[in-house]
Amino acid sequence: MTDGRAVEDLVVGVLGGTGPQGRGLAVRLAAAGQRVLLGSRDAERAEEVATEVAARAAAVAGAGEVSVRGGSNVDVAGAADLVVIAVPYAGHADTLAELATPLAGKVVVDCVVPMGWDELGAYVLDVVEGSVCQQAAVLLPDSHVVGAFHHLSAVTLEDLSQPTLEGDVMVVGDVREATDLVQALAGRLPGMRGVYAGRLRNARQVEALTINLVSVNRRYKAHAGVRITDV
Ligand SMILES: NC(=O)c1ccc[n+]([C@@H]2O[C@H](COP(=O)([O-])OP(=O)(O)OC[C@H]3O[C@@H](n4cnc5c(N)ncnc54)[C@H](OP(=O)(O)O)[C@@H]3O)[C@@H](O)[C@H]2O)c1
Repeated sequence: MTDGRAVEDLVVGVLGGTGPQGRGLAVRLAAAGQRVLLGSRDAERAEEVATEVAARAAAVAGAGEVSVRGGSNVDVAGAADLVVIAVPYAGHADTLAELATPLAGKVVVDCVVPMGWDELGAYVLDVVEGSVCQQAAVLLPDSHVVGAFHHLSAVTLEDLSQPTLEGDVMVVGDVREATDLVQALAGRLPGMRGVYAGRLRNARQVEALTINLVSVNRRYKAHAGVRITDV
């Protein structure tokens, strides 16, 4: 899975890394010293965004050596040690269907929320496999799929005027070594903790809870997250 390497020694790929969520995770991880590869459907766009993200990460107080590079989603999937999926739900299945081979044997972290909007606000879309994470597991049978980072607002991640984040990252998955690794990765974000929250079959609730947070954010003009008490 990682050949015994510690999380800080891994290269983290972010597919859909040109969007707010991918950029936000990338800039925070890069500022913490993680080597990051940003993926896009367009390698040139990925390189442009990677350059911007690297400059922003390097400007964070206390940031050491920063490494952010861009590439096509498929190249990043092949080159990274651990890969975060940050594409919209509408493109999730098609994106992953092409990547089973480059992602084989790797930990794949899925933060995709199946969210729809109508006149009543945000709502959860039904996913045939049970959840987006379970869809990923079906499409990537040789990867270790872990759900995490659903409850982190991209606005907060990208707002580097807030040096410390506040909240917990609920981590779901079926392989202990993989969930431990992703908990450790979450802990690289300043102020955050990764908290194990069940098997992959419990990803549905974690994904859906994001919709409640979106509703909180709309009512209270906030960027709410979650905090797990007593652990
Ligand atoms: N935004 C948040 O606060 C937040 C919070 C928690 C979770 N999430 C989840 O994180 C994921 C990314 O969120 P986001 O707001 O960054 O989304 P986004 O901006 O809509 O999309 C992210 C990137 O995905 C690529 N993309 C767009 N459509 C695609 C398609 N049909 N197939 C493949 N790639 C496509 C685009 O990159 P290229 O054009 O460069 O390929 C885009 O920059 C979503 O699934 C969302 O549910 C978001």
